[in-house]
Amino acid sequence: MAKVLVVTSGKGGVGKTTSSAALGTALAQTGQRVVVVDFDVGLRNLDLVMGAERRVVFDLINVVQGEAKLVQALIRDKRLDNLSLLPASQTRDKEALTEEGVGKVIEELREKFDWIVCDSPAGIERGATLAMRYADLAVVVANPEVSSVRDSDRIIGLLDSKTFKAERGEPLEKYLLLTRYDAARAERNEMLAVEDVLEILSIPLLGIIPESEEILKASNVGTPVTLNNPSCAPARAYQEAARRLNGEMVSVSVPREKKGGFLGKLFGRRAA
Ligand SMILES: Nc1ncnc2c1ncn2[C@@H]1O[C@H](COP(=O)(O)OP(=O)(O)OP(=O)(O)O)[C@@H](O)[C@H]1O
Ligand SMILES: [Mg+2]
Repeated sequence: MAKVLVVTSGKGGVGKTTSSAALGTALAQTGQRVVVVDFDVGLRNLDLVMGAERRVVFDLINVVQGEAKLVQALIRDKRLDNLSLLPASQTRDKEALTEEGVGKVIEELREKFDWIVCDSPAGIERGATLAMRYADLAVVVANPEVSSVRDSDRIIGLLDSKTFKAERGEPLEKYLLLTRYDAARAERNEMLAVEDVLEILSIPLLGIIPESEEILKASNVGTPVTLNNPSCAPARAYQEAARRLNGEMVSVSVPREKKGGFLGKLFGRRAA
C-alpha cells in the first residue's frame, strides 16, 4: 500500500528539500515507485535539486485546479525511471492550493506510487499544514541547534493535531532526521549532542546526516547526493535512513570527526 511521507521542520533552511530529494531517490534506488511532491509554492526548489527545472511545464496547482492532468505534470527522472517529480509553481498564488484539491491529487498518486514524499515549506502556516495533512508518516528534519529543535517540537504538535490521521485517532509515525551534523563542532560542545536532541523531541531517530560539501556539489549539478556520489558519507546516511523507512533494522551511524570514520553506532531502533 502506498505511503505518504511528509518531510517537515518548522524552521527554514534546515535541509528539507535536500532530504526529500535524497530520501526519495534512495527509496527509488531500492526499486520502489517514488514521487517527490514540491509543496513549497513560490520558491520551487525541489526541481533544481532534482535537475528537472528546465522540464517543468505544469505543476501541482495546475493539477489541483484542473488545468492539467496529473500525468502531464509528473516529470519522470532521467536516471531512474521509477522516480518522478511533481513540481510546485514559482509564480502562482499559494491560496490556489485547497485541502480538497490536494486530497484528490494524493489519492491519484497513491494508485501510481509506493512512496509519495511531500517536501513541506518552512513555517507552521497553511502551506506546511497542507503538506502534512494526508501524511501516513513524517520525517522531522532538525539541525542540532536550539532554535531548530524548538521549532521541530512545535511541528510535532501540529502533526499530532492537524493531520487526518490524528483527527481519526490513528497513530502517525514520526521520525527525526538530524541534518548538517558537524562532528568536530559536536565534540567541542558547540552544537547540541544527539542525545540531547532525542531527549527534547522524544521521537525515534531515522538518521544523522553529516554536514558535507558533497551536498552542495550534488545540488549544483542537479543530482540527488545518493545518485551523484553514492559512497560519500551523507549519501550513505540517506541510504541507511531509507532502509529504516522500509522497515529494516539498521543501527544509526554517528558521523565521526576523523575523515572517513563513519563508524559509530548509536541507536538500533526499528523505524517502520
Ligand atoms: N548535510 C548538509 N551539508 C551541507 N549543506 C547542507 C546539508 N543539508 C542541506 N544543506 C544546504 O543547506 C541549505 C538549505 O537546504 P534545503 O534547501 O534542503 O533546506 P530547506 O529546509 O528545504 O529550506 P526551506 O525551509 O527554505 O525550504 C542548502 O544550501 C543546502 O545545500
Ligand atoms: Mg525547501
